[in-house]
Amino acid sequence: MSVPSGWPGRIRPAPEHFLSQEEVRAVASGRRDFLRSAFALAAGATLAGRAGAETAQGDPAILELPEWSTTLGRPVAATPYGLPSQFEKALARRQSPGLTRVPGSSVAFTPLQGLFGIITPSGLHFERHHQGWHDIDPRRHRLMINGLVDTNAVFTMDELMRLPPVSRIHFIECGANTGMEWGNVAVPTVQYTHGMLSCSEFTGVPLQVLLDMCGADFKRGRYILAEGADGSSMTRTIPMELVESGEVLVAWGQNGEMLRPENGYPLRLVVPGVQGVSWVKWLRRIEVGDQPWGTKDESIHYVDMMPDGLHRQYTSLQECKSVITTPSGGQVLLDQGFHNISGLAWSGRGRIERVDVSVDGGKNWMPARLEEPVLPKALTRFNCDWVWEGRPAILQSRAVDETGYVQPGYGQLREVRGSASIYHNNAIQSWKISEAGEVSNVHIR
Ligand code: MTE
Repeated sequence: MSVPSGWPGRIRPAPEHFLSQEEVRAVASGRRDFLRSAFALAAGATLAGRAGAETAQGDPAILELPEWSTTLGRPVAATPYGLPSQFEKALARRQSPGLTRVPGSSVAFTPLQGLFGIITPSGLHFERHHQGWHDIDPRRHRLMINGLVDTNAVFTMDELMRLPPVSRIHFIECGANTGMEWGNVAVPTVQYTHGMLSCSEFTGVPLQVLLDMCGADFKRGRYILAEGADGSSMTRTIPMELVESGEVLVAWGQNGEMLRPENGYPLRLVVPGVQGVSWVKWLRRIEVGDQPWGTKDESIHYVDMMPDGLHRQYTSLQECKSVITTPSGGQVLLDQGFHNISGLAWSGRGRIERVDVSVDGGKNWMPARLEEPVLPKALTRFNCDWVWEGRPAILQSRAVDETGYVQPGYGQLREVRGSASIYHNNAIQSWKISEAGEVSNVHIR
């Protein structure tokens, strides 16, 4: 593969500073001048070590041997648990100030704009807690199974981890992801628009195996209730068909090591394709029952207010969706010429079949390359060549999944769902590029 028109154009990353409420409001009201000065200040501080803004052409320093070529390096195990380079500090989970009243019941977003491939590094996996997180002692943690079963059971971690494990790569997306966009808030960066999204390799035992061990009554018991051990006692009803598909895991592993405490250590439920709230963390109990429980977490949250004033409930599947992560909001194209458009696509119904990219706000579309691996209910990375000629552009991506479902535009989505929703927004995202190369979030019907 070759770069179409010579040397690729440079991109200045978005300033990785906290966005104040004033900045969010500035973007919402179109006051771009305010943000431009914020970018200028923050960019100098954060760009030093990030590829993209510098060029080696004509740099005399390239002829001098740097200290790392002439001195002894640090010894092995200087950091027993490896950490990212000091030059990558700006790449971090961030919370949106003012989004929630208390940080214990809040969200920290994954910096999608700075990641490659499909796996989210565990330390950058988004976090969403209803009542804060704990680092639970695995020796004291138990999983209880009760309800419509022959034998009630209580498992220790040791007992669970002796069962035959499976490892699978899946995305997790909070049902509230992209929620602010319903209200045309147009938050500035992809971290805040789409960053309640991560993808990991999870290791655990299929829940079906545990239910078989307990002699579950699969005929009458068409639902399970999953319950977490945190103070919120998070509870979610999950249909038994999903468990019977063998996909639902009682997982302890994430990307080759134990789950991180923020993500449910030592045990969480993995419910591929289903909104994040059903992936109950710090999992302590599974009950088998013959009807949905309708607990507080499922009757007042993660439901969709429809145009007829009724709530749509148990819409747990995350529909097909995609987003361009580069170039994306807050970044600046510094040069005309070749730019790689890169992004992520995913579907709760299975594999991604294709992704099309538009650079003119949806008038024309070109197919993007899907990078391997393309796995069911996992993130899929796409790339697309583009030559920017310095003119204003509107970048969009539109994904199609293996069932033929096509990601809708805002107009199509609002026709069915109205405008009172908070959750389950899978509309096409638009990034506007100005003549000056500045990338910003815009709404296109
Ligand atoms: N499980 C428990 N016990 N408590 C919680 O607050 N939050 C849920 C879900 N599981 C939650 C929970 C929500 S709303 C989401 S989106 C996902 O966990 C987030 O998972 P993560 O923090 O690992 O990204």
